[in-house]
Amino acid sequence: MREVAWIEREIRPFGLEIELKLDQPWPESFAARLPELFARHKLLLFRNQRLSEERQVELMALLGPVLGAAGEYRELSSDGNLGDGPLAWHSDLAFTEKPFQAISLLATEVNDGQSWTAFTNGADCAAALPGELADRLAGLEATTVISMIQSHRAVGWDVPEFLPSQTRPLLASHPKTGEPVLYISEMQTARVEGLPREESDALLADLFARLYAAERVYRHHWENGDLLVWDNFALQHSRCDLAGMHPRRMQRIVCATKSFFELLPQFSLDDPRIAAWGQGSELALSEGD
Ligand SMILES: [Fe+2]
Repeated sequence: MREVAWIEREIRPFGLEIELKLDQPWPESFAARLPELFARHKLLLFRNQRLSEERQVELMALLGPVLGAAGEYRELSSDGNLGDGPLAWHSDLAFTEKPFQAISLLATEVNDGQSWTAFTNGADCAAALPGELADRLAGLEATTVISMIQSHRAVGWDVPEFLPSQTRPLLASHPKTGEPVLYISEMQTARVEGLPREESDALLADLFARLYAAERVYRHHWENGDLLVWDNFALQHSRCDLAGMHPRRMQRIVCATKSFFELLPQFSLDDPRIAAWGQGSELALSEGD
């Protein structure tokens, strides 16, 4: 009989829970298999973990280049750096040429079951599009922009030229697997290029309804020791309002080749145009979780 080194359990509608204590040396077979499991399931859940930052870095290094700590948030707290407001659906740094590849969050101090992060799968959604709609999307591109308001959809047709933005095919190729991904989001995607405004708005509304349909969403209620690792291109995420939810601390390690400020060295909150655009908003530059 083959020795079972860890237990795998599928999550609905997507994702995989893995039972394995990650603070112990992991089997070589686990390290070898992890990239394949990640590519297939896009979201991995490990429960009851206590990991140093270094150990979480070791885990993420199995999946890609780990972003250094300089200029990055490695601890997120509801009473700290990135605020406690709700976050509408988004993908971290989608408005740059190199969005984060993978994100991991470890719940180091939370009230069990109190807060949630939700996920939807743009690759599954693309694969499930009716043929006619998929054909229509095939030739279209959409523009995604940094949103200074992050609690709800506030971007629209007009994208000020001074805001970082990125135009990509509506069905973008996944950078690693090549799968088509419906890579547009409620928080960040302003318009479909080449369509009249009304048509663009209607098409985005239709696609958002597909992406965020309840049966497509996995909502994770955080408990202490939960570690989630997700594909930031295939999946997008949203978060509940954390007001009054203290403590809520997460240890975050991401796979990426460049940080926000390396990708956007010219971006400054002191730019008066950007400051005015973001007035009254709680801007979190890399969007917390
Ligand atoms: Fe985020």
